[in-house]
Amino acid sequence: MNRIHLPASWHLPDGAATPEPIYVDRRRFLRGSLAATGASLIALGTTPAWAREGKPDGKYTRPFTKSGKYRDAGRPISKEIHATRFNNFYEFTTNKTEVWKLVDNFQIKPWQIEIGGLAKKSGKYDLDDLLKKLPQEERVYRFRCVETWAMTVPWIGVPFRKLVEWAEPSSKAKYVRFETAWRPDEMPDMSGWGKNFPYFEALRIDEATNDLTMLTTGMYGKVLPKQNGAPCRIITPWKYGYKSPKSIVRIEFVEKRPDTFWNLLQPRKYGFYSNVNPNVPHPRWSQAKEWRIPSEDKRYDTQMFNGYGEQVAAMYKGMDLVKNH
Ligand code: MTE
Repeated sequence: MNRIHLPASWHLPDGAATPEPIYVDRRRFLRGSLAATGASLIALGTTPAWAREGKPDGKYTRPFTKSGKYRDAGRPISKEIHATRFNNFYEFTTNKTEVWKLVDNFQIKPWQIEIGGLAKKSGKYDLDDLLKKLPQEERVYRFRCVETWAMTVPWIGVPFRKLVEWAEPSSKAKYVRFETAWRPDEMPDMSGWGKNFPYFEALRIDEATNDLTMLTTGMYGKVLPKQNGAPCRIITPWKYGYKSPKSIVRIEFVEKRPDTFWNLLQPRKYGFYSNVNPNVPHPRWSQAKEWRIPSEDKRYDTQMFNGYGEQVAAMYKGMDLVKNH
């Protein structure tokens, strides 16, 4: 029997790419991926199909400045086609390289965002109107997924601290909770995970107002593509990628620590904090190394806080970072 040996750049180990909910259904996932990519790989060499195809996204038209401080992430910027064709967005599918093909029906204009809870400016806002009140900046950040893949992206967005200042939360607000869109008519959820959505996440208020945290609305000088979380998502580059909820519809200021999506489902694997930490392995794989999309040929050492200790370590001073992973 002939066997297809896939090139290393496509072979994805457990920790690298098997989406959590289909871990148990891994064989089916691999069969699907192989069927979809095997033939074209043989014809076209080692670049996987998802890294070649693509359609252009719209130019960013809102005014923004370029950050002086976060201009160089100390490693090469990932190619746009890789960052926008390899995604985790389970409301559409758990197949990373298919998300971008399934987002066309997702309506992002107009977009209402609700500010809720303990804030003076609680209410519903049109996102475009809200963005007019807030400064936007381009910043190059490293991004690290809990599955061990990493990328480096020039994001455009609002320093989240500015939004918090604008919203005027009361001193009782200790956490910020995010809820994302769940529209079954527009999001096909090929995974059968619909019952778990909407996706929700949260940050401590000092994390939310840390200099690094961004409400992101663009990337690569363009509007945020739908597969990357249009029209707005959170980016916290010192945390694993699942702490960056996409397509946010509600931002709530609350007193008590809210549940978060993955922590609620699998608390042993996914903590509330989820700071990048090479010393805290996922129960199924080590976090000591990472690889950069699209190729896992080369492994790099994982840096504590993804290399952002200078900006964030003080927030966790005295805290047991293993217990509070
Ligand atoms: N947000 C929503 N609404 N749904 C998701 O499935 N996946 C998270 C995060 N935000 C997810 C989400 C995970 S696991 C990761 S790693 C990042 O989005 C991936 O972001 P990217 O596709 O832009 O790389």
